[in-house]
Amino acid sequence: CRYKWDNNEKHLKPETGLLNIRAGLGVFANLRPATVLPQLVDASTLKKEVAEGVDIMVVRELTGGIYFGKPRGFGTNDKGEETGFNTEIYSAAEIDRIARVAFEVARKRGGKLCSVDKANVLEASMLWRKRVTAIASEFPDVELSHMYVDNAAMQLVRNPKQFDTIVTNNIFGDILSDEASMITGSIGMLPSASVGESGPGLFEPIHGSAPDIAGQDKANPLATILSAAMLLKYGLGVESAAKRIEAAVTETLDNGFRTGDIYSPGTTLVGCKRMGEEVLKALESQK
Ligand SMILES: NC(=O)c1ccc[n+]([C@@H]2O[C@H](COP(=O)([O-])OP(=O)(O)OC[C@H]3O[C@@H](n4cnc5c(N)ncnc54)[C@H](O)[C@@H]3O)[C@@H](O)[C@H]2O)c1
Repeated sequence: CRYKWDNNEKHLKPETGLLNIRAGLGVFANLRPATVLPQLVDASTLKKEVAEGVDIMVVRELTGGIYFGKPRGFGTNDKGEETGFNTEIYSAAEIDRIARVAFEVARKRGGKLCSVDKANVLEASMLWRKRVTAIASEFPDVELSHMYVDNAAMQLVRNPKQFDTIVTNNIFGDILSDEASMITGSIGMLPSASVGESGPGLFEPIHGSAPDIAGQDKANPLATILSAAMLLKYGLGVESAAKRIEAAVTETLDNGFRTGDIYSPGTTLVGCKRMGEEVLKALESQK
């Protein structure tokens, strides 16, 4: 990890630690699925006919772009006013490697990749579009399209089913993956994977530590359990084992068990512990 802990640094933000763990491990690709499960379609804030069947994977570049670009800092302009500035910068190599991950992911899914940028305004995005288009020739079986980020933000709530796999830079991915995840309506359901060229990867739910419900046996454990499925699929390449976990989660939901965040009348409200036990039961009863 590039960051060295300094006892004198009393105001280190957790986000700084997280950014440096990602950079230190070289996990440049963040995979975030946003899948609306049929059992939970009513949890979405979108109309049922819009949300039903949504199955998107957002592939976000994680270790480059404006969050890391230099120069950055505070200064003063020629009028003597205080300024703050950051740099959006990508090298061709950084774009090529995230594009290849995204094409591989799209190939294993619906075979459609939408690259999101702001190539009408930003030079970094112009290079992004040029390189993604060049890498597409290595993946003739994947259908590539391009979309400006403002339109993508709109299309995600207008007609999310048009998307299969999305690839985008660090800052656009940060925002769009949160937007996409909210289509599913349930933060407690969503896993993520961050991977590099070679291991190790980071596999974690998209939610944080949920301090408001800590110690109350209320948290939904499914995002964490599904992160283990992503570890098996994208970290270890054991897709059959990943499918078993996913099937056990689906079966638990089919059996009507729900934690508070995804509860609806007519289902069985359970706590975190019981939900985990039900998934384990479903897993063990698989043939
Ligand atoms: N990837 C990460 O590491 C990550 C992501 C988000 C937040 N965080 C950290 O987590 C801490 C709390 O952040 P926050 O409160 O903004 O976000 P949070 O995701 O922890 O909580 C947001 C809301 O969602 C609910 N929620 C989250 N997970 C849930 C689950 N499994 N089941 C049911 N409800 C759930 C919480 O109760 C809360 O109301 C902060 O320190 C933040 O920096 C870390």
